[in-house]
Amino acid sequence: MIHFEKVTKFFPHQKVGVSDLSFTVQKGEILVLLGRSGSGKTTALRLINRLIEPTSGNIFVGGENILDQDPIILRRHIGYAIQHIGLFPHMTVEENIGIVPKLLGWEESKIASRVEELLVMVGLEPKNFYGLFSDHLSGGQKQRIGVARALAADPPVILMDEPFGALDPIMREQLQNEFLQIQSQIHKTVVFVTHDLSEAVKIGDRIAILDKGKLMQIASPTELIQNPANSFIDEFLGKERLQLLLQAQTLEMFRSSLKPTKSHEGVKFSLTSSLMEALVAFNQSKCETLAIFEEETYLGNIHRKQILESIMTCFGQS
Ligand SMILES: Nc1ncnc2c1ncn2[C@@H]1O[C@H](COP(=O)(O)OP(=O)(O)O)[C@@H](O)[C@H]1O
Ligand SMILES: [Mg+2]
Repeated sequence: MIHFEKVTKFFPHQKVGVSDLSFTVQKGEILVLLGRSGSGKTTALRLINRLIEPTSGNIFVGGENILDQDPIILRRHIGYAIQHIGLFPHMTVEENIGIVPKLLGWEESKIASRVEELLVMVGLEPKNFYGLFSDHLSGGQKQRIGVARALAADPPVILMDEPFGALDPIMREQLQNEFLQIQSQIHKTVVFVTHDLSEAVKIGDRIAILDKGKLMQIASPTELIQNPANSFIDEFLGKERLQLLLQAQTLEMFRSSLKPTKSHEGVKFSLTSSLMEALVAFNQSKCETLAIFEEETYLGNIHRKQILESIMTCFGQS
């Protein structure tokens, strides 16, 4: 869906933004760009919607070279959410979310119903939020509206630059979960920038690690943790590797062994939760089983022992 072909961006004075970057983002995938501050993540992202232009190389979106397209039109088909979301202060929530549909010439009634749908999707009660201005919103509410605005015209591609970076850890985790829940329904092609390793592991289908503008490795979270390509990645992962592995592995691995029983006692748990979350749930409750659900469907129970066994297996491999 998105393809970088030997893309280099020099800023003035030969300052490297990104260097010889080649990778592909599959349709419906979340690719996380991960790296320290100044590693080129934002540069890579802004090259995709032509907020900046490459010095050399090509970028294709949906098979078309973006350099052949009108940047304004290109941007209307690419959602963009950033950390300090830049909601327009003189516009209401409704106007902020509806801005791209309006530019695209949608009818008023279609915009209104889309705004309502999006507010529900991001967990805000429409009638309480339509008319508010951004200085009446909390940080979490602003970011939710930022996500809604990025999704407004139903673009196939969404770019997100540290969208939850300014939130406290609990709010951040809540928005991450909500975003994953939304993505499981809408299957957008997402490029998500973060400098936070656990956020990358949680959000990414694959992670591309950048350093000084160069791609160091691109792999699934589990692959990355189990097979770091070089000493840079090894160091980057640091001491939290085992914990990260437990965050990267989901209860999906138990799917084939799950059988519904008549009674599903125990804590209600989602198949998309991580081994880490399961471990925490067992430690916090006296339950011996978790009742596993996919959306609203009950799939079966997982026993404490099964979780411990798979954790031991993870540790054995890493
Ligand atoms: N507009 C700019 N002018 C000059 N240098 C820039 C500009 N934008 C980014 N850079 C430089 O490019 C490098 C990568 O920056 P950036 O992509 O913002 O990194 P990240 O998002 O990973 O923190 C940094 O060295 C930064 O200083
Ligand atoms: Mg950045």
